Amino acid sequence: MAFKDPASYADLTQGKIKHIDFRIGVNFSTRTLDVEARYQLQEPVQGSLYLDTFKIDLKSAHTDAHELEWKFDTEDDVLGKRLHLKGLKGDSTFTLTFRTSPESRALQWLKASQTAGGTYPFLFSQCQSVHARSVFPCQDTPSVRFTYSAEVEVPQGLVAAMAAEQTGVQKESGLTLFRFTMPQPIPSYLFALAVGNLAFRELGPRTGIYAEPETIEAAAWEFAENELKMNEAEKLLGPYLWGRYDVLILPPSFPYGGMENPRLTFLTPTVILGTRGYTFLITHELAHAWTGNLVTNATWQDFWLNEGWTTYAETRITEVLEGKDVADLHAVYDEKRLIAVMEQVGMDSPYSALKLPPDEKDADRFSTIIPYYKGCYFLQECEYVVGRERFDEFIQKYMARFQFQSLTTEAFLDFLKTELPEAFEKVNVQQWIYEPGLPEERRKPKSHLHEEVERALDDYRQGNKPTREQIGNWHRYQILSFLQGLPRKISIEDCQYFEDILELEKRNDVSFFYHFFLIAIASGYQVVLPRVEQFVEKIGRMLYVLPVVRAMSEAEWSRGYIRPLLERVRDRHHQITVRAMGEILKQAGL
Ligand code: BES
Ligand code: ZN
Repeated sequence: MAFKDPASYADLTQGKIKHIDFRIGVNFSTRTLDVEARYQLQEPVQGSLYLDTFKIDLKSAHTDAHELEWKFDTEDDVLGKRLHLKGLKGDSTFTLTFRTSPESRALQWLKASQTAGGTYPFLFSQCQSVHARSVFPCQDTPSVRFTYSAEVEVPQGLVAAMAAEQTGVQKESGLTLFRFTMPQPIPSYLFALAVGNLAFRELGPRTGIYAEPETIEAAAWEFAENELKMNEAEKLLGPYLWGRYDVLILPPSFPYGGMENPRLTFLTPTVILGTRGYTFLITHELAHAWTGNLVTNATWQDFWLNEGWTTYAETRITEVLEGKDVADLHAVYDEKRLIAVMEQVGMDSPYSALKLPPDEKDADRFSTIIPYYKGCYFLQECEYVVGRERFDEFIQKYMARFQFQSLTTEAFLDFLKTELPEAFEKVNVQQWIYEPGLPEERRKPKSHLHEEVERALDDYRQGNKPTREQIGNWHRYQILSFLQGLPRKISIEDCQYFEDILELEKRNDVSFFYHFFLIAIASGYQVVLPRVEQFVEKIGRMLYVLPVVRAMSEAEWSRGYIRPLLERVRDRHHQITVRAMGEILKQAGL
């Protein structure tokens, strides 16, 4: 299909990458990767090949037979530089040697002091959406898939982990060499590497966990049910085709809750609550092994195919594992979040449509929760009209038909029309997919656990606050829903009261901090400042930290603290987070 991914320089009519063999040296003192990469193409290429790069220092380019002429001939702040390889003479392999930049957008190099153990440095990558190009030259579009092998050399004492199968470890003088292979074809955004003082613990026959030794015990307990989850996910989505499913616990600066890197989900440590109360995040990342990793959005304009489908699968699996009551409670909470974000983005903005604007090349701008929940609701509507049984058959057929392929929204709709024509007749597909906002005609989530919260919120509006005991008996999501439903501005006395009964410190749950800080900042509860600053310094998870920074920029009393705070966190956070924080300041005119 001839379509152009606006997020990439790649011209797929030239040819496609099929396989890469990497040799990677990890250098913590220069904060660079020294890489030799041998590329194999699907077919011999004549003439030019364009690759995406970002701050890559290319040293040499050659085929087995001859040197290649090359030039960085186009440049853009978002897309990076186009690497133009010239003079390919029907070659199907070539080798590039290069060095990444300390400012590589995908990589975060952490000082030992930023880790749980405090004695070893740490490195991790986050390539989604368009940052693989800052690790290696590639066709950085999810419509191209390749397999790879990698040899990763790290200083002795450190362990390398990749979203791939580990095939060997070899000690050399002062260094350790880790070997990996990824036999299933992946899009570039699923390339992932981490290096640190990592321990490994088996959880089940196909599941395990990597974490620093200081956290492994708690992590192994928290995620003990992963094997069970896999079995449940397979019932809904079909056989798991990636071999193992391991999880890697990262330092708290990790910019996301989780990242579905194949075979090895990357996870924020903030979900280790000691209660297994946040493990639906695993359900989400695990579901991506099918919806996203196996069947992939062809461009970031089709992002809802990844996230909407995954959110749908997540809710189905949560319903089985945690019961309908809990799933319904989540659903109401999430619907309120969705509506709030949509109102912020604009109910009539093209960014609240499922198919995203074709001219937007900065895919990180798509990372709102809209494609997640609006996409999920659309699929739920389809399920309602054909019934669960038929929809479940459709899911399995969809996975089998498009496995290891990338597809556009339009290709998905064609498939839907053929397989479930009634869905097309009874659901306003055009409106759901191409129009902004939320269709009025849809099933709205309902939850009796949430109704209890609404009563408490009504009472609060009448002047009666919930008691510590009342909250003590609530489900975690009931408390979060209560905080979510409170007015943004409340009295200082009420801030103190909620702070007291919520027992924030004891809970150590970032979702609680997040909700409470938003209220405290807007309400002018200034004693919270040192804790807010600590939070922004430590937590990189953008879903939580960005709204807190935005709230600070909106309240008169806190605006002046942001700029210096941002300067302090600049080299503590991942580039993606720093960039997004800078964007908020710019919007606020600070
Ligand atoms: N794939 C996303 C993370 C992502 C999105 C990275 C966009 C880069 C660009 C991941 O699966 C995800 O959605 N994570 C969520 C958790 C989820 C439970 C909603 C997160 O990080 O909060
Ligand atoms: Zn996701």
